[in-house]
Amino acid sequence: MEKRQELFAGKAKSVYATDDPDRLILHFRNDTSAFDGRRVEALERKGQVNNRFNAFIMGKLQEAGIPTHFESLLSDDECVVKNLEMIPVECVVRNIAAGSLVKTLGVEEGQTLTPPTFQLFLKNDELHDPMINESLAETFGWATPEQLAEMKALTFRVNEVLKALFEEGGMLLVDYKLEFGLFHGKIVLGDEFSPDGCRLWDAKTREKLDKDRFRQGLGNVIESYEEVGRRIGVDFG
Ligand SMILES: Nc1ncnc2c1ncn2[C@@H]1O[C@H](COP(=O)(O)OP(=O)(O)OP(=O)(O)O)[C@@H](O)[C@H]1O
Ligand SMILES: [Mg+2]
Repeated sequence: MEKRQELFAGKAKSVYATDDPDRLILHFRNDTSAFDGRRVEALERKGQVNNRFNAFIMGKLQEAGIPTHFESLLSDDECVVKNLEMIPVECVVRNIAAGSLVKTLGVEEGQTLTPPTFQLFLKNDELHDPMINESLAETFGWATPEQLAEMKALTFRVNEVLKALFEEGGMLLVDYKLEFGLFHGKIVLGDEFSPDGCRLWDAKTREKLDKDRFRQGLGNVIESYEEVGRRIGVDFG
């Protein structure tokens, strides 16, 4: 497979075309952004760490029967994925209250959410990824009700697989964001799963081990990502 031109660069990854119209290359960069891109820093090794981390998680999800875009690792910080027509809606499941839920609803951080909650956000940086619902997504054509139902079901299946995986590693999966797309009309999990897009706490101490370390200036960001990976069996090469 041949790497062709860069199609676009997001805040953390760059996307390249290949000679196969159905395949793309994702390049995980070291760039780390927070607060809608108002804070950006390059963190050494992040690209490699997230590339391996994501490959490991996508493999686990695939094994559990969840369709993902992941095809293969290409290099330290690149992988080959299916070329999806992305749905501009982010799916979030929360097992424990944290982040924007605490800020916008005034609920207590750390409270267990029973049952876990499901939220939709519009992928739109300029609008700061506003929270939306199924009705708005249908009306404005961001996704059909059938697609939304499938995305929701898949997002909860991911919860079952990954809650157990992180629990075995002595961690709590607090919340996470997923993006889906269409591959020849079929809903497939896209983008990435890494500590950049989820919250993970140590189960005993509740120490934060995810991107909140960057957002809150706690330090040892990538060291924590690697620690999380080691605890669940990621091979960082
Ligand atoms: N398999 C795929 N096919 C097509 N696009 C993908 C695929 N996986 C991820 N993407 C898209 O590639 C981009 C990844 O880059 P990154 O995560 O850095 O973007 P981002 O900063 O979140 O930006 P944006 O808001 O533009 O999506 C995202 O837009 C994501 O939706
Ligand atoms: Mg992104």
